[in-house]
Amino acid sequence: MAAAESPGAEPASPGSPGGEALSIVLLAAGRGTRMCNDRPKVLHELAGMSLIAHVLGLARSLGPARLVTVLGAGMEDVTTEVDRLAPDGRIVIQDPPQGTGHALAVAAPALPETGTVLVLYGDTPLLTRATLERLLRRRAADEAAVTVLGMRPPDPAGYGRLRADPDGRLHAIVEHRHCDAALLASDFCNAGVLALAADRLRQLLGELPRQAENGEYYLTDAVGLAVAKGWPCSAVEGSWIEGQGVNTQGQLAMVGGFFQARRRAELMEQGVIMEAPDTVMLSADTAIGPGAVIEPFVVFRPGVTIEPGAVIHAHSYLEQARVGAGAEVGPFARLRPGAEIGDRAKIGNFVEVKNSRLGTGAKASHLTYLGDCEVGAGANIGAGTVTCNYDGFMKHRTEIGEQAFVGSNTALVAPVVIGERVVVGAGSVLTANVPADALALSRAPQRVLEGAGARLRTRLAHEKKRRKS
Ligand code: UD1
Ligand code: CA
Repeated sequence: MAAAESPGAEPASPGSPGGEALSIVLLAAGRGTRMCNDRPKVLHELAGMSLIAHVLGLARSLGPARLVTVLGAGMEDVTTEVDRLAPDGRIVIQDPPQGTGHALAVAAPALPETGTVLVLYGDTPLLTRATLERLLRRRAADEAAVTVLGMRPPDPAGYGRLRADPDGRLHAIVEHRHCDAALLASDFCNAGVLALAADRLRQLLGELPRQAENGEYYLTDAVGLAVAKGWPCSAVEGSWIEGQGVNTQGQLAMVGGFFQARRRAELMEQGVIMEAPDTVMLSADTAIGPGAVIEPFVVFRPGVTIEPGAVIHAHSYLEQARVGAGAEVGPFARLRPGAEIGDRAKIGNFVEVKNSRLGTGAKASHLTYLGDCEVGAGANIGAGTVTCNYDGFMKHRTEIGEQAFVGSNTALVAPVVIGERVVVGAGSVLTANVPADALALSRAPQRVLEGAGARLRTRLAHEKKRRKS
C-alpha cells in the first residue's frame, strides 16, 4: 500500500455521539466508469461543490478524531481537492481498487483500535448529520460490531439488500446479484454507510472472502462474518433520498434535484420568499436572509450572500456577490465575482456588475456595465453607462463619488475619478478626472439646420425612383 499522508496535527477528539472516539473513513477510490467521461466521479459538481466536498463537509461536521480518505492511484486532482478541504485528514491510496472491503483494509493501519469507525462513500452526498448521529447512537446502544444504514428506494435495483428483523437486528447484507427471489422482493437496501466497532474491525476485514466473480472483497460481507461469531449487528432506516448514490450522469442530476428541493425548503422555513421555488437554482453555500424575495428563474452560483429584505428579480444570475439589505437586483441582471451591492441600492435590467462596490442607495437601473469600480452612496448611473475598465492589456479602476449623476450612454474610460455630486452629461466619454460638484460634458455641440431634413428626404426619394426605372 502506498500511503500519501498530508501533514497537519490531528485535532483533539470531541468524541462521537456514541460516546467514544470517532474515526471516519471516506471511500472514493473508484474511478466511476459509469459516469462515462474523464473526470473522476467524486469531482463532479453538485450545487457548485464537488461530490467529495459535500461528503467531507458532512464528515468534518461530526468532529472525528481521525478522517481518512481512500483514493485510487493517479487521482492527483482528487488528492488536491481533499487536501484543500480536509487539511487535517489523511489520504491513503488503494492501488489497485479491489472492492469496498479492501478499501477499508487499506485505511485500517491509520485507524485507532478503539472507538467507532464510520464508513462513508464519496458518491453519496445527500446524507445528513442527524442521520449519521442516529446511526452512531444506535451502534453504541446495541454494542454492535456493525450497524448499517438501510433505506427503501422506489427502485432498489443494484443495491445490496439487508436481511434484517423488524426490530433492526441485522443478519447479513447480500449484494443484488447474489440475492434469491425472496430477498430481491424486499426493498430494504444497503445505503452504503456503516459504523463498526474499531476493536472488531481488523478481525472482520482479515476474514472477508474474495469474490470468485471479480476478485473483490466486499465490506458488506463483514456483517455475515460478525453474526457468525455471535457479535450483534443492527440496521437503522433512513430516508432513501439521503442514501441516493451517484453512479451515472442521470443519477447526478437527480441527486442535484433533491439537493435543490431540500435547500429551498430550508430557506423558505427561514423566511425567504420564493414564488416558484422549483425554478430557483441554489449553490450549497448560498446564504439568503429572511424576508428576501427570490423571483422565478434566478441562478445562484457559489459565494452569494443576500441580506434580509433584498429582492432578486426574475432571470438574474449571481456569482460570488453580496446584495445588501433591501436592495433590488434584476430582472435579467448579472452579478459577477466581487459585486457588492449596498443596502437599498438598485441594479436594474441588463446590468452587469463585476468586482465593484455600490454604496447605500446607489442606482444603476438599465443596460449598464460596471467593472472594477466604486460607486458612492446615492449615486445614479444612467442607462447605457459603461466603465471601460480594460485597455486590452490591463484592468483599471473607476471611482464615482457619492450622489454623482452619470447621464445615459456615458463611457467612463478608466482609470478615472468622478467626484461627489458631479453631473455628467449624457453621451459623454470621460477620460480625465472630474472634481466634486462639477458638470462634465464631452460631446460635439449640437447643430440644427432648419429644413435640411425635408430637403434630404426629397433628394433620397428621387434617387430611389431613378434607380428603380
Ligand atoms: C455498494 C454496496 C451496496 C450498496 C451500495 C450503496 C458493496 C460491495 N456494495 O455498491 O451493497 O447498496 O454501495 O450505494 O459495498 N470504492 C473504493 N474502492 C473499491 C471499490 C469502491 O474506494 O475498491 C468506493 C467507491 O469509490 C464508492 C464506494 O466505495 O465511493 C462504493 O463503491 P461502488 O462501486 O459505487 O459500490 P456499489 O456497487 O454502488
Ligand atoms: Ca455506488
